[in-house]
Amino acid sequence: MQKIKNFISEKISEYLASKGVEGVDVSSLFSKPADSSMGDIALPCFKFAGALKKSPVVIAEELSALFVADGTIAKADAVKGYLNFFIDKNYYKDSLCLILANSEFGKSNVGEGKTVCIDFSSPNIAKRFHVGHLGTTVIGNSLKRIHQFCGYNVIGINHLGDWGTQFGKLIVAFEKWGSREKIEERGVSELADLYVKFCAEAENDPALDEEARKAFAKLETGFEEYLEIWQYFKEISLREYQKTYDLLGVEFESWNGESFFNDKMEAVVKELESSGLLTVDEGASIVRLDKYNMPPALILKRDGATLYATRDITAAIWRKNEYDFHKCLYVTSAGQSLHFAQYFKVLELMGKEWAKDLVHIPYGTMSMGGEKLASRTGNIVLLDDLFDDAIEKAEKIIEEKNAALADKRKVAEAVGVGAIVFWTLSGSRIKDTNFSWESALSFEGNAGPYVQYTYARASSVLRKAGDVGADFGDYEPCAEEIEVIKKLLQFPEKVIMALNEYEPSVISRYALEFCALFNSFYHNCRIVGVDENIAAFRACIAKGAVNVLGKCLDLLGMRRTEEI
Ligand code: ARG
Repeated sequence: MQKIKNFISEKISEYLASKGVEGVDVSSLFSKPADSSMGDIALPCFKFAGALKKSPVVIAEELSALFVADGTIAKADAVKGYLNFFIDKNYYKDSLCLILANSEFGKSNVGEGKTVCIDFSSPNIAKRFHVGHLGTTVIGNSLKRIHQFCGYNVIGINHLGDWGTQFGKLIVAFEKWGSREKIEERGVSELADLYVKFCAEAENDPALDEEARKAFAKLETGFEEYLEIWQYFKEISLREYQKTYDLLGVEFESWNGESFFNDKMEAVVKELESSGLLTVDEGASIVRLDKYNMPPALILKRDGATLYATRDITAAIWRKNEYDFHKCLYVTSAGQSLHFAQYFKVLELMGKEWAKDLVHIPYGTMSMGGEKLASRTGNIVLLDDLFDDAIEKAEKIIEEKNAALADKRKVAEAVGVGAIVFWTLSGSRIKDTNFSWESALSFEGNAGPYVQYTYARASSVLRKAGDVGADFGDYEPCAEEIEVIKKLLQFPEKVIMALNEYEPSVISRYALEFCALFNSFYHNCRIVGVDENIAAFRACIAKGAVNVLGKCLDLLGMRRTEEI
């Protein structure tokens, strides 16, 4: 479709130039006729009236003469100042063949030779992996896949929160009240409980805080015994997080978390100092950002301890040296927007011209209403529990719909996890959302299972059709078929849009629109018992659907389901 629009724009620009009119961006003027009986592409001619000194009605009529039937455009009608283009039906047949001939239809090479770092998921060690991490994990994973599909070399980074004063507290709590047996048994939950107990006890006994501070200081200077305990906490946590990553098909190229930058911060603090950016304020070292309407960035605490921002500034510099990234993306909740704005600014002030290539990708809050979700573990909904519930519910639905299905558990896993993923990616990233099982697990509504079900349906059409060629004789496609092909043709533009806007929901929305059109085709167009040419054509449409919808599932980070 884009090609046709380019062709039309060029032709009209040439015409305008021949009349001495230059510099009109014709390509930005296209719209869609009110309904498809009036054409496929509309071009309003009002913008040309001033320059050509003619009425839009006359201009549209003159322009229509430029277009003769050429196998792509069937005709161009002038209607009340609009030029309405009808695309030749053969064009859709040819397009379908082209789509099918390219096994990677939609793939682009805009990112060739460029590296993009995507910092996502990045949970805090010894804390439970809960729904608050769903957004970063799922959005980051999808952005990673979209970038790869566009030719980028992608470094997925799990910037683990594995350093900070909380580890002093945890070590003290572990030594006082903890045991390895209990941790083996209960995993991260035990660590999290130990931390909570520490905080409660410290309320009444401030000496504990002092003890924790000392413990962390010892850890920072490399005290073996504490390092070993800290390493153990980390292992326990990662073992647990890995289960979720496996379910989601999430992989990282780097696990360098905050602790990795311990020995690299000193040089950066020195650099800040020598560039005259550091100010001492009540004993703490800060970078003032008043000029930019932001509170100061805290670099060193009064006791000389480093902070989250210190580690992030250091990490950015290290990544630039290591990967020479074209861009470095950070996917976190919108709650951290100020943090990123502050330290991006600090890097800019340090003279790092590449600071402009750091991009914070914020997302809105997700609440989960109703059911036992909230009651399981206080107010925290653990990701493990959420996925277990989703799989269980999906299994029940599948049991009702298709009890004879082979490998029900595997399909339920794909559908249950996919439902949560799709729900997370279905609205604009930044919008706050409220979860409901009913809408997330719907096979009919705008939900993941509906998309996976449609994918399975297209796969089954294809299986039944067997091997068909691409000879459609002189068959003229019907409206439902054309709509599906038009939608298929949009896929490459959507991929680029999702990439440029860092917005997986462009793909999820597209997938839903595609499913609606495919299902309407499926219900209205018979595939068996029809003429050979028609059957072949329809099988090819199903093949296009399998390719493109399958790719959408891949890009969103959902599993393909050949059968449900
Ligand atoms: N660990 C942080 C958290 O759970 C997220 C880290 C995001 N990445 C970064 N480079 N700051 O809130």
